Amino acid sequence: TLALLTPQDLAGETVLVTAGPTREEIDPVRFISNYSSGKMGFALARMARLRGARVILVSGPSALATPPGVERVDVVSADEMRDVVLARWEQVSIAIKAAAVADYRPARRSARKMKKEGREDLSLELEKNPDILAELGRLKGTRFLVGFAAETCDLLENARKKLQAKNLDLMVANDVTQERAGFDVDTNIVRLLQPDGTEEALPEMTKDEVARHILDRILALRRLA
Ligand code: CTP
Ligand code: CA
Repeated sequence: TLALLTPQDLAGETVLVTAGPTREEIDPVRFISNYSSGKMGFALARMARLRGARVILVSGPSALATPPGVERVDVVSADEMRDVVLARWEQVSIAIKAAAVADYRPARRSARKMKKEGREDLSLELEKNPDILAELGRLKGTRFLVGFAAETCDLLENARKKLQAKNLDLMVANDVTQERAGFDVDTNIVRLLQPDGTEEALPEMTKDEVARHILDRILALRRLA
């Protein structure tokens, strides 16, 4: 019934959203990850679906419920997320990368649980994960590509750099040092940056409301293009 009251302004679009953290395994019982809960990405998926889009939600480990009508694909590692996203890329018209992808993974995964006996210190060798968003930027074509930037300092400068480097159409910049923004809270405080230099600072609002603003902005920019 809610959908009946919502304008179906995303009908005909296939929106791909990535959400949550990735998990990079060290051994069968340990991993490297981050504090992402998936809330921002799941809110985007839910709102896009309510507005009539076909929605593919590619999620790292998250306890959140799948929004109704959304096709969810669960992944664990950055590598898996990349494979799933690329396999769907042909069908996608709008991609929103809200996932907090681990930048590095253990260079080797131990098949057995690592033992501490006889070892006073331990160094883990890490190697870089693929930058999924940068890759999508190179494969963009006519699609609309949205990234997130999680920063603890020099928010605008860093977010602008990523917007350019990854060939994005919109960047959502997130100062994750603020208590009511970023990882695992229900609210967010973001700025929307466009390639033409335009910038909008949104006040604190729920992640559902942030999602609505992001989708509104995507539609407005697509109409101009
Ligand atoms: N991202 C990605 N693949 C990665 C790392 C990041 O797709 N391996 C995406 C994230 O989903 C996000 C954007 O890139 O949309 C920016 O992520 P962020 O961590 O803020 O920036 P990085 O480019 O990873 O740079 P750094 O962490 O060094 O600030
Ligand atoms: Ca990163």
